[in-house]
Order: sequence, then structure tokens, then C-alpha cells
Amino acid sequence: MKSLPNNIIILGAQWGDEGKGKIVDLLSHGFDIVARYQGGHNAGHTILIGDRKFVLKLIPSGILHPGKRAVIGNGLVIDPAALLTEADALEAAGVDVRGQLRISNRAHVLFPWHRTMEKRISIGTTSRGIGPCYEDKAGRRGIRISDLLDPRIFRVLFDCLVIEKTRIEEAFGIHEPMDYAAIRAEYEAFAVRIQPMVCDAAQFLGDALAKGESVLFEGAQGTMLDLDHGTYPFVTSSSATAGGACTGTGVPPTRIAGILGVSKAYITRVGGGPFPTEALDAAGDAIRNRGNEFGSVTGRPRRCGWFDVPLLRYSAMVNGFDSLIMTKLDVLDELERIPVCVEYRGVSGMPATVAGLERIEPVYEYLPGWQSSTEGISHLEDLPSAARDYIKFLENRTGVEIGCISTGPERNQTIVRSGTRFYELAFASR
Ligand code: GDP
Ligand code: IMO
Ligand code: MG
Repeated sequence: MKSLPNNIIILGAQWGDEGKGKIVDLLSHGFDIVARYQGGHNAGHTILIGDRKFVLKLIPSGILHPGKRAVIGNGLVIDPAALLTEADALEAAGVDVRGQLRISNRAHVLFPWHRTMEKRISIGTTSRGIGPCYEDKAGRRGIRISDLLDPRIFRVLFDCLVIEKTRIEEAFGIHEPMDYAAIRAEYEAFAVRIQPMVCDAAQFLGDALAKGESVLFEGAQGTMLDLDHGTYPFVTSSSATAGGACTGTGVPPTRIAGILGVSKAYITRVGGGPFPTEALDAAGDAIRNRGNEFGSVTGRPRRCGWFDVPLLRYSAMVNGFDSLIMTKLDVLDELERIPVCVEYRGVSGMPATVAGLERIEPVYEYLPGWQSSTEGISHLEDLPSAARDYIKFLENRTGVEIGCISTGPERNQTIVRSGTRFYELAFASR
């Protein structure tokens, strides 16, 4: 008889930077494997452990736990230079990356010209070449890790890709000369270093699951940046929502036991695009400063705004959240009253067009602030009653349980609510 699945997905419920890295790191100890399923080094997952700070971009956050295996799934696009820089920095900090990391042979390879080609995209991307690499993937001319490892095949595919790329550049009037022979040689050298970590990751995960091992899937970006379900075209180029965990790793949906959404107690967005509850006033600036809301990849100031209930309900619908993890509650500590968007006036559901999204008129309710410190609180009963009311209010309005609350960047600055679905998925069954 098959054992019940105990694999879970953790992903961003808003526009990214919800604090996924901290939460994945916190829960990793209960799992055998942590797997990333989409995106690339556009992600920046910050983890604080004592006085050490790690910003992981491509490598799953679980790598920080000695002996845990970390998998980069087929759904990612990999810039080998970025990967090896990150791996070297972690190795220097004492992490056994080469022992713990497995890279899918079906993931796609990102080249320097993907960054150049991104210059024609003006939605405020991270300029890492992510979109153009996924364009090559969908255009069926991409080069995968397995191709990179075969010198003969790599040469042929590389030359074909360069011809195609030159045609696209000519069509768009892009003139940035590159030394292709040097790039090819550089990638051949990357291949030698990456090769020992490469495997058929779907098979690796399938074999692990067959042995009863458990997997925690780590999402990057967030639901509203998902290529299909986000605020298109102001999105990233991959499937950040829960379904992406299966297509991006080769693990079937029947093996998923639960899905956890990570949401800030407010909301932020980096880059362009509609943002109905954006606070363009001093209150927005105050959140940015108190929450240190500056991009972990590009350093750009994050746009800040108020918790958006209709957005969260939409996010819960497309992901099927079992429970929410609410981060950065402490950032709201000083506010006298806290606006929460409870509905979009006259609109039900999430508009599909930018024009429709921009027409949204948020209807706010104002909740009393608590104006005392919640920083580092790790028991629900120690929270000021107004903070508990805020959480209860959001639970009622979103229809999703809040099973975990984060009150600071460190592992121990976390409230875990026993008796919740969150507790059951993250702890009780382990
Ligand atoms: P991710 O991309 O979702 O992993 O999030 P980022 O790492 O880009 O951004 C979240 C930031 O908030 C990081 O700097 C974290 O260290 C920090 N953080 C996470 N949880 C909390 C929290 O509860 N309170 C505060 N003040 N900071 C937090
Ligand atoms: P994590 O995993 C926040 C945003 C960019 C831009 C849009 C498209 O740390 O939450 P891209 O370079 O992906 O083509 O840019 O997506 N973006 C993120 N915003 N957090 C991220 O990752 C992001 N990754 C991409 O700012 O608006
Ligand atoms: Mg981030």
C-alpha cells in the first residue's frame, strides 16, 4: 500500500518578497529534500541565522541545513555563472553545496545575451535575462543542462541559437557585439564544474518519494507575478503558483499533501504594473523604511501598500491554500490605524486586463493599531489584543486560516499556532 503523501508547497501569495526564504528555512528540518520549481536568479530569498545573512537566488533555502538535499527542478532557468558564484559563497560559509545540491538535466541554460535582449522589455524586470531565456524555452530553441554537458551537441545547438538570436536582434535593432567563441568556451568550463551535481531530477525525486522521503517545494516570486494568473503582462515568465511545483519538478499532483501561502501583513511590489492598494503617501514611506523594503536582488525601493483581501482570496483560489503564513507583522507596530482593502468597489473576482486592474477602487476598513512592539514575539497570547484582532479579521475576510505569524527575520521570531492545518502539515506529521 502506498503511504500518504507528506510533501508540501510553500509559495508567495502576493507579488513576491513575502519572506518565503525565512519560512522555508524554518520548516526545512522536517523534510528530506527542498526543491525549487521555477524562476531563476531573479529571486532573492533572505535568511538570517544569528549574525549571518544569506541571500539565496537559485539554490533552494533548505541547503542551509546540513545534510538536507536541495533540488533545482526542470522549471528553472539557470545562469551558470550566477549559480557557481552562489555555490562558491555558500561553500566558503561552510555549506556542502556539492554534496547536497542536485540540478535537473532538463532545466534551461541562460546566456549573457538574454540580458541584452531584456532591454526591449520595459515592465521593470530584474534585468537578469529571465524572460528571454523562457522565450527560447517556449520557442523550442533553448539549450538545456543536458545539452550543455555534451560538448558535441552543445556546439551545434549553441551555434544555432546564436544565428536565431542575431536574427531577433536585427529585427529589434539591438547592436551589442559579443565574443561568441569566448562565451562558448566559458560555458564549456561551467559544464565541467556543474556536471557532478546534475541528474534526472524528476527520477531523483520519484525514487526519493518511493522510499517514503518528503519534499518541501519552495516557490519563487509570487502568485500575482505568475505568467498565467498574475497581473499580465506585468509578471515574470514562469509558473509561480502551486501547479508550477508539479510541472517544474516532475512530481505528480497526487503526491502533494498541502499548500501554504506566505503573505505579508501588508503588501509590496517591485517593478511596474497595477497595484490597487499602493500607499503613495508618507504611510507607504514609513512601511518601506521600517520594513526595509528594498529589493534583495536589485536594491530597488519596493512599492508598499495595504493588505488586499480580494487579492488574497483570488490567490487562495488559484493555489488552494490550506493555510497562510503571515510575515512582518512587527512592521505595522507603530501605526495608529491600519487600512485593509476589503473589496473592490463594484467588482467581483480579479480583472484580467491592465485597464480593469487600474480601474479598481479599493474599499477600506480601518482597524485599530496596537502601537507597541511585537518584534520577536513567539506566542500568540503575548501579542497585543489589537494585533490578534487584526489577524482574526484577515482570517475571517480571506476565508483562510493563518497558521503561522512571523514577527522578525530570525528563525525564533515566529508564532506557530498548534491545532491548525499549518501545524499539522508542517510539524505534526513529521
Ligand atoms: P522572499 O523573496 O519571499 O524570500 O523575501 P525576501 O527575502 O526578498 O524579503 C523578505 C525580507 O523580510 C527579508 O529581508 C527577511 O529577512 C525579512 N523578514 C522576513 N520575515 C520577517 C518578519 O516577520 N519581520 C521582519 N521585520 N522582517 C522579516
Ligand atoms: P522573490 O522570489 C519580487 C518582478 C520584477 C518585475 C517582474 C518581472 O524574491 O520573491 P523578471 O526579471 O522576473 O522578468 O521581472 O517580476 N520580480 C520579483 N519581485 N520578488 C521576486 O522574487 C521577483 N522576481 C521578479 O521586479 O516586476
Ligand atoms: Mg525576495
